[in-house]
Amino acid sequence: MEKAWKTIIEPFKIKVVEPLAFTTRAERERVLRAADWNLFKVPADKVLIDLLTDSGTSAMSAEQWSALMRGDESYAGARSFFVFEKAVRDLTGLRHVMPMHQGRAAERILFKVAGGPGKVFLSNSHFDTTRANVEASGAEAIDLPVPEALDFGTPAPFKGDIDLRALEAKIRALGAERVAMIIMTLTNNSLGGQPVSLGNLRAAREISRHYKIPLFLDVARFAENSWFVKLREPGQSTRSPEEIAKETFSYCDGCWMSSKKDAFVNMGGFLALNDDALAQACRDEMILGEGFPTYGGLAGRDLEALAVGLREALDEHYLRYRVRSVEYLGEGLRKNGVPIVEPPGGHAVYLDARRLLPHIPPTGFAAQALACELYLTAGVRGVEIGALMFGKRGADGAPKAAPMELVRLAIPRRAYTQSHVDFLIEVVSDAASRAKEIRPLRLIEAPSRLGHFSARLEPAAA
Ligand code: F0G
Repeated sequence: MEKAWKTIIEPFKIKVVEPLAFTTRAERERVLRAADWNLFKVPADKVLIDLLTDSGTSAMSAEQWSALMRGDESYAGARSFFVFEKAVRDLTGLRHVMPMHQGRAAERILFKVAGGPGKVFLSNSHFDTTRANVEASGAEAIDLPVPEALDFGTPAPFKGDIDLRALEAKIRALGAERVAMIIMTLTNNSLGGQPVSLGNLRAAREISRHYKIPLFLDVARFAENSWFVKLREPGQSTRSPEEIAKETFSYCDGCWMSSKKDAFVNMGGFLALNDDALAQACRDEMILGEGFPTYGGLAGRDLEALAVGLREALDEHYLRYRVRSVEYLGEGLRKNGVPIVEPPGGHAVYLDARRLLPHIPPTGFAAQALACELYLTAGVRGVEIGALMFGKRGADGAPKAAPMELVRLAIPRRAYTQSHVDFLIEVVSDAASRAKEIRPLRLIEAPSRLGHFSARLEPAAA
């Protein structure tokens, strides 16, 4: 028997490094003012540790960099397409595989074909681009998370599950013919990066079969989800992440992936499904906006790197380290009294700004204020999930309170080491210890759809 060592190490060594960008406090104050208190507008070379997203920010492996050189850049029928298609088919068991330049391209095409006015999509939670693309088609997106998902302070193993009773009730109330699709997002990014259990997925599948509604998976983080199933679901501990992932895919009619997450690529994704007519309609849309069906907005070399990434994502040594390092960040913050969404997610720790900053009113952008404070403190950039991202307005045009005010600290894959995480614990705890001094923000302007990317804010008058 191998001894089980207590210290879990980064399961790689580093061949190429990038310097970090150090700034002074005065510089950061100037940068934030010029960016209108919107961290999306801060230049990356003014950020020390960038936790804005885990999307497209991962370090590719030597294997992936080598695969780039094998890229076949033929316009039609490139060899690289078949390598990619095989990797996706082997993993998902789905027949029609369409490369997409990223996740939202798949969403736009799929919902344009399957959505439209009068249709409804039901999900454990739609990610913001998913919701925006459903709504852009004229359809409605409804989230049905389990109730414990919204109880941020209390841990539960599978807070990403869908509320099965609510799902069935909603289908009955609407009439099955209006429900275009059931979408399961793995892991549930909008509510804490929490996993979905196989049991829940199986039950959702039964409902989908019973009412003849297609079930689709949004699998940006399917590998992390599989690891949580192995760790937490009774009877799963001896299975490999690959076996668990394959069972996961066996319950769907189709899926799409932003491969910029679990597959480590800086750009890329896919749509995969079984229905011939739906696939044809998606390919027709694809040619309009993405490209010919064997490249779909990607270079041949991207397809090669993606195929390698799908395999590496399921490596046990990697997944053990990955999930543990995020949990370690959560533990450090919890120990220092920083309120987080419990338990930590697979790709991120989510700070609960509403609990940390009770003095900020519901429309005072508590999470954005906290995210800005982290930036001012040490150049750490996270992302707000709150009133700014949800972007809802009242009848008077004023911003409406959101159901949550979270700051997501998303951890790029294989990019930072444990000392970076120790530093983060120190910085976030320091900012949190000055919670009472953090002031609310006021919205100056924001466009109506996905407005958080370009919104302008300022500190509210005292
Ligand atoms: N679905 C989920 C669950 C996502 O997290 C994302 C992207 C998408 C779809 C869209 O994919 O960006 O490739 O077009 N999430 C990123 C994030 C942006 O920061 O969480 P995309």
